[in-house]
Amino acid sequence: MSTAPPPEQEANPLTEGLERQPVHATALVIFGVTGDLSRRKLLPALYNLAHEGALPEHFSLIGNARSEMSDHEFRELARTAVREFSRRPPDDKVLEKLFERSRYVSGSFDKDSVYEGLTAKLGEVDEEAGQALNRCFYLSTAPEFFPVIVTHLGEHDLDDSEGAEVRVIIEKPFGTRLAEARELNEIVLSVFEERQVFRIDHYLGKETVQNVLALRFANGMFEPLWNRNYIDHVQITASEDIGIGTRAGYYDNAGALRDLVQNHMLQLLTLLCMEPPVGFSADEVRDEKVKVLRSIHPPTEAEVPEMTVRAQYAAGNVAGVDVPGYLEEPRVPEDSSTETYAALRLEVDNWRWAGVPMVLRTGKRLARKVTEIAVTLKPVPHLAFREDGSEGVRPNVLVLTVQPNEGVSLSIGAKIPGTRMAIRPVQMEFLYGSAFMSQSPEAYERLILDAMRGDATLFTRNDEVEAQWNIIDPIIAAWQKAPGPLPQYEAGSQGPSQDDGLIGGIREWRMI
Ligand code: BG6
Repeated sequence: MSTAPPPEQEANPLTEGLERQPVHATALVIFGVTGDLSRRKLLPALYNLAHEGALPEHFSLIGNARSEMSDHEFRELARTAVREFSRRPPDDKVLEKLFERSRYVSGSFDKDSVYEGLTAKLGEVDEEAGQALNRCFYLSTAPEFFPVIVTHLGEHDLDDSEGAEVRVIIEKPFGTRLAEARELNEIVLSVFEERQVFRIDHYLGKETVQNVLALRFANGMFEPLWNRNYIDHVQITASEDIGIGTRAGYYDNAGALRDLVQNHMLQLLTLLCMEPPVGFSADEVRDEKVKVLRSIHPPTEAEVPEMTVRAQYAAGNVAGVDVPGYLEEPRVPEDSSTETYAALRLEVDNWRWAGVPMVLRTGKRLARKVTEIAVTLKPVPHLAFREDGSEGVRPNVLVLTVQPNEGVSLSIGAKIPGTRMAIRPVQMEFLYGSAFMSQSPEAYERLILDAMRGDATLFTRNDEVEAQWNIIDPIIAAWQKAPGPLPQYEAGSQGPSQDDGLIGGIREWRMI
């Protein structure tokens, strides 16, 4: 009896490149390991990866910060951070094992002794493992140290390792203006090759952000509608109820535009608007994203006032608690003109999207935290129902909720039960929580693992980060020319009322 040979698997361009690379044995060096980001996000992410068995068998953590500390004290600091901030209560055995061989090098980032210390400790971990471990340098420091650290890594020959890969992970913000981002790219790329560089935008590590790609490219039904003929406008909202907390030092120099729009919100826009990539390799995806960014015409100085809105929160009440205004926050100058709210209207000027308003808004101390992309379709061309029956007919809105209540909903018009032909919108909904019954990993878990694997799909490429700044730079310049006191909005509200005209008369901002 002969058996037919198994049918040859056809190459599927959608999944090609998605096969996960194994995670090679790695030494992870975190600069600024005692900082907030490291304690709240990075160390707990490592723990959760360890808990899931996702870390390689040989994994070593080396921390660096200015404080003097022994290896033993560092291990305790790492365990405490995990206990305090991990999304799952830690299992002592896993926790103990994860950090049992972690090491610490103290000293400020400009000291040669730090890099000499790192070289020695990296040598030790290679020896212990009996192989050359890949090396990942994670720059979790204030941005002014990025060039300092990168240059020193180069000077101490830490940009390369025989028989192993070396990678550098760079936190945001990547520059504060276009010129600065270019300069930083030049410095980074004078030491490392682009394939070694992983620029973080933590939104790309969120499940729901990746789901924008799944929704668009794993379902046939949206593509025919995904263009200027059917889509009326897009609203992307990233509202927060929190204030700036203790971050005045950073935030007052950044503002909402740099803090969230230049990076996270433009990333959401590119994923929503990009053409289907031929495959899902890092460069195929990023090539398409860059094309979107380049199709966005940066506003001229004269256009800025009509395309943007900025404002600052005043005192108010958020979820029943009285909170101070931005200018009363600790360490904020009393005449600060930094915006805590920014909204802008952009257009992706290409064949698919020309003429479709893309409006983005973000702010601190708004009514609630919600990040969503709302795609409003054009109204039906003709209504045959009698006038009172048509009252409830609204354009369909597809909402991709990034957080909280992660999911996707589509509003459709449905007949209200009864003897009349009356219509109102109802929601068709998919919620992550109930559909998958599992807790999503934190963005940093995915990103750290991908960087260790060498998969840069969810990281920002050099030309991409510059294209983002190219859009934002003229807005910053125009705003700087007209500092003045900014319009205020009450904390806990929907934001300033001045932006009503931004998306045009008939279209309304969605409720936050
Ligand atoms: C950071 C900003 O990049 O993103 C913060 O610096 C902001 O100001 C945060 O609060 C929001 O991230 P998430 O994941 O809570 O939406």
